[in-house]
Amino acid sequence: METGETRARRCILYVPGSDTRKMEKAVTLGADCMCFDLEDGVAWNQKENARSLIARMLRELDFGASEKCARINAIGSGMESADLEAIVPARPDAIVIPKVNDADQLRWVSAEIAKRETKNEMETGTIALIGMIESARGLMNVREIASADARLQALIFGAEDYAADVGATRTREGLEVLYARSAIVSACAAFGLQAIDLLYLDFRDAEGLRAEAMRGAQLGYAGMQTIHPNQVDIVQEMFTPSADEIANAQRIVDAAREHFSQGRGAFALDNKMVDMPIIKAAERVLARAGMKRE
Ligand code: COA
Ligand code: MG
Repeated sequence: METGETRARRCILYVPGSDTRKMEKAVTLGADCMCFDLEDGVAWNQKENARSLIARMLRELDFGASEKCARINAIGSGMESADLEAIVPARPDAIVIPKVNDADQLRWVSAEIAKRETKNEMETGTIALIGMIESARGLMNVREIASADARLQALIFGAEDYAADVGATRTREGLEVLYARSAIVSACAAFGLQAIDLLYLDFRDAEGLRAEAMRGAQLGYAGMQTIHPNQVDIVQEMFTPSADEIANAQRIVDAAREHFSQGRGAFALDNKMVDMPIIKAAERVLARAGMKRE
């Protein structure tokens, strides 16, 4: 398994854990990250069925290069222990925790996983965690959450739940969630985590999805959540540096090396000033371009 810093998670595809056909189809789509869901994508009367179905699918399906994840129910829902009991022995690469409100919840999950890793004779610490920030409380505590546990590799921004929690009305422009969206990407950068952006509900609107993904990428997100096969290729393309972007970044890094050796910290390239922040941004583009997809 790759670490959070090198493993690409341009697209996380949710699949309802009660739907065998969708889970079988999902693994053929080439999404960086597959998330079989026990939470809001599964009806109350299907939770038990979904637990055993996901456990079986995690064991039996060929995920190819995709990361295999499962999303449990929220801590405090009363379902989380049974979810972990079913999921951990099936050895997912990562577990997604929804509605993380504070660091203790994350540490609790990590400890519960550790117990079950021992019980099932698995190496301790191999299952990663991805936390979702989707409440005002979660956002207020994001810096403690971001540094809570070594298993944590990424944070996801759950914009719909967040908007509902603070009483915001979702709009196309998304100004009502911009503060949270920016705060989460900043917390991730500060603590070395990947930031994964909101999802786009209108799965037939390719242009709208493209625009939303571009906004996320411009804000600094490394990837985005998706809910439908139509969205996977578009999102993965939008979160991959283009050939032009890579070439441009390489030119900046090469020019910087040249100018630094001549003792210049700032210089001009194509009539624009280049100094350290521009060079760092170019290095990030090259790092993302070189990320492992398996
Ligand atoms: N993963 C894998 N396959 C999916 C899929 C998904 N998330 N969503 C749809 N498909 C499949 C369908 O099974 C169908 O395949 P088939 O024709 O071979 O049977 C094909 O893609 C086209 O689906 P479509 O008819 O356009 O959509 P739908 O009406 O079946 O489903 C949703 C629409 C929104 C219910 C569905 O996309 C979905 O379940 N998304 C995930 C929801 C979820 O997990 N929510 C919680 C997290 S936010
Ligand atoms: Mg949610």
